[in-house]
This record gives sequence, structure tokens and C-alpha cells, in this order.
Amino acid sequence: MKKKLFAIVTAIVVGCGVLFGMGACGQVTDTSAAKAGTGSSAVKPKETPIVGYAAIGPETAWRTANEKDVQNAFKEAGMDLVYMPSGEHKEQVATVEKFIRDKVSAILLSPAQSAGWEATLKTAKAASIPVFLLDRTISPDTASLYTAKIGPSNTWAGRLAATFINKAYPKGAKGFMLEGPVTGADAASSAVQRTQGWDKAIDDNIAVVDSAEGDWSTETAIKQTKALLEKYKDDDISFIFAQNDEMGLGASEAVAAEGLSDTIKIVTIDGTKAGLKALVAGKLASVIEYNPLFGAKAASLVSATLDGKKVAKSTVVSSQVFTPESAADELPTRKY
Ligand code: AHR
Repeated sequence: MKKKLFAIVTAIVVGCGVLFGMGACGQVTDTSAAKAGTGSSAVKPKETPIVGYAAIGPETAWRTANEKDVQNAFKEAGMDLVYMPSGEHKEQVATVEKFIRDKVSAILLSPAQSAGWEATLKTAKAASIPVFLLDRTISPDTASLYTAKIGPSNTWAGRLAATFINKAYPKGAKGFMLEGPVTGADAASSAVQRTQGWDKAIDDNIAVVDSAEGDWSTETAIKQTKALLEKYKDDDISFIFAQNDEMGLGASEAVAAEGLSDTIKIVTIDGTKAGLKALVAGKLASVIEYNPLFGAKAASLVSATLDGKKVAKSTVVSSQVFTPESAADELPTRKY
């Protein structure tokens, strides 16, 4: 029995829309009474949408900022969000299956791993529950299994990382790549797509002599970078592409320990406060933002869908590339 929640609908629901990285506050006015011509100021009770959110939970500063923004946005949009975090695939699947049994209005999903979602999403589809993918996507990317996906572009970010290294070393260079989970069943779509973006844009004279598959953490990146620097101590290593800020900060610590900070340029993705501070301090050479603040846009997609409107299958959230100068300008007001 679908849990019914009748809320006294306020005449005005104020929502802050983050449209493509631009902050904007707007008003959504429930005009159903006016539209119906009843002339009455009373607004008929409406069900409060219950939205299941299969999140990942504490993983990195980026993830914390993203999930907090989503929760705040859905609260402001007047929807009840059931937040269920887990980085384990089986637990995420069980969470989505419970949302389906509970007949929620819609499901938000940030898949920790991209594989293994077909059966569960087919069940959601059969139950006519719209699914929205946030940040991470599924593999194979079967568009019929979800209503919409929203997030910044990982291939764009990987491409910009390559472009920075191309420009820094026009005569060629050798270096490492610290990737997120890119192999096997637990591959994360963001890591895979960042590598794809890099591979498409990197110049032929730039060589990634080795890579390490990390877990987005600083601790692991320190160990991996130390091992790589030792293994290639007779090579002129000039760069490290770390696929998120935490791994880049780990690489920076290991490089500094070897006295190589002036020799090796480190490029990262995310744009967290810690990353921007390290950029200003010269510990990182470039930080490419992967904007996590798209909760309001996600809420607007869900609201429109529940109102019977068609929404775009994919919404790309705009981001920017930081330099030490622009990072210094940004930091005083940086939200995450
Ligand atoms: O999917 C986005 C990635 O996941 C971020 O770059 C990383 O910090 C997060 O944990």
C-alpha cells in the first residue's frame, strides 16, 4: 500500500535552481486552485513525493558536498528524500529494490559501480518508477533503463587534464596516472570516462609510463606514488594525472618527500577547497572542477517528471578549470 503523505500544500514552494553551474533562486507557485478557476484560496492537498536516494556515502570531500547539496535541494523542493548511502554494490541494489517494493515516487541513484544494474532497473521500469542517475552512470549505458542522468562531464575533465599536460610539455614528457576504480566489476563510470577523455586528447609525445588503480583516497595514493617513483627513479618523470583531488594530494606528498615538487606537475579533478588551496600553494599545477552542486537541477528534473513532463535524457553540469590565480580568487567564497 503506497504510503500516503498528505501535506498542507503551501501556495508557494521556493526553490533555488542551480542551472548548469549558475546559482539562481526562483519561485515555484502552486497555481492549481487558480487554474481550476475555483476562485478559492484553498489549495487541494497533494501527496508529498517520496524519493528514494541510493547514494554512496562518505567517500571524498566531493561526494560529501554532492550528497549534501542533493539532500538540501530536495527538501527545499518539498519532496521527502529517503537517503540510503552505501559504497557496496550489493547493498545499493538491495536499497533500490526496497525503494521499488515501497513504491516510492522516484529513485535517485549514484552507482558506486557501473556494472550489474540491468535487472534492478528493469524492475523499477516495470513498476513505473522513474530513475535518475546522479554523477555516476551505468554500463552498458542503456538509456531506456533510466529517465535522466545528470552530472558534469568526466570525458571533458579528462580531456582538459591532457590538454594541460600537452601545453606544459610541448616537447614531450613521461608520467603516471592515478586512476579511480577502472577495472573489473567495481569499475566506476567517472574513472573510466576520465581515462577515456585523457586518452583521446593526449599528444603522442606524452607517455603515461605506468598507472595505478586507486580508491579515490589520499592514503592509497601516497603509497602508490612512492612505489612508482621508486620503480621509475631512473626515468625523467614530469607529470602525474590524479583523477581526483584526494589522490592528487597524496601524490603531492610523495613527490615532495622525494624532493621532486619542482620537477613533477600534478593535475587533478574535483575542485575542492583542499585542492584549490594546494593549487595556490604550488603543490598542484592544475585543478579541473567537477561541479557537485547540481541538487536543485536534479530536483527540477524529478518534479517535472512527476508532473508528467518529458525531461532531457542527459544534463551536463558546467564546470571550470582553475589556475593558481583563479583558485585564490575563488577560495574565500568556495562552498565545498
Ligand atoms: O564520481 C565522482 C568522483 O567520485 C569524484 O571525482 C571523487 O572525488 C568521488 O569520490
